Amino acid sequence: MSEVVAHQLLDGRRCSEALRARIAEEASAVKARRGRPPHLAAVLVGQDGASRTYVESKVKACEEVGFRSTLITLPETITEDDLLHRVKQLNKDKELDGFIVQLPLPAHIDADKVTLAIDPDKDVDGFHPENLGRMVLSQPGFLPATPSGIVELLRHYHIETAGRHCVVIGRSHIVGTPMSILMSRNAYPGNCTVTLAHSRTKDLAAITRQADILIVAIGRPEFVTADMVKEGAIVVDVGIHRIPDATRKSGFRLVGDVDFEAVAPRCSWIAPVPGGVGPMTITSLLLNTLKAC
Ligand code: GUN
Repeated sequence: MSEVVAHQLLDGRRCSEALRARIAEEASAVKARRGRPPHLAAVLVGQDGASRTYVESKVKACEEVGFRSTLITLPETITEDDLLHRVKQLNKDKELDGFIVQLPLPAHIDADKVTLAIDPDKDVDGFHPENLGRMVLSQPGFLPATPSGIVELLRHYHIETAGRHCVVIGRSHIVGTPMSILMSRNAYPGNCTVTLAHSRTKDLAAITRQADILIVAIGRPEFVTADMVKEGAIVVDVGIHRIPDATRKSGFRLVGDVDFEAVAPRCSWIAPVPGGVGPMTITSLLLNTLKAC
């Protein structure tokens, strides 16, 4: 019979509260020094409901720590040239420390072109190739918010990472790929032996069962099941999905990429959804904005 390990939560809300209290102090110091607080702008193109919700929570988080924030809403029909023009204006705006362009963008706009147009010194999302290159070389720069939030969460809970096998599922440019690089860096948290698994990986469960640290960013609801996880593993769930639930007043509930109920009893630590990685992503964006000024 397998041993049951009592799991502990990697609580992104509590960790964020602690970090945001420090960010708020820094923000008032910046304001005293420069006469204005840190200022973040977010560009939202179109009417996608999920993107709007994310952007609004970023703006709200800014206000809560005493930052200034500006939400720029642009129509779905905006041309690529007009959007690039707006980005150039924001690059030049001296009242602005950093900005983000929420993804995904409408299909007629080349997101890579837009990302490339952002001044790397204002790229608080850390998506510009220059910032990604700096990350690879362990040079100072902006780290992408979600991977950086996960790193902060592991640090907050003093999770030992050196020498451990970290399996990352999902190779997106904004989560899986940078995460695999950060976990293999010669730093803390880091120094892991990393496996980056993706849609073409064969016998995924055999690989995930070897993971001491399993980071799941595959974008499929409750994809990771108990049989895929080793006893005592540390599991970080990056996914967030609304699934219909008639027992809820809202008619839906939020789940991650991990079947939490089944997997949690096997873990030493697990980041829940909601309340794990999500709040940390926003906290990292605030940290990057502070760094930008
Ligand atoms: N879409 C999903 N996550 C993100 C993010 O962190 N930043 C931006 N700009 N768009 C996103």
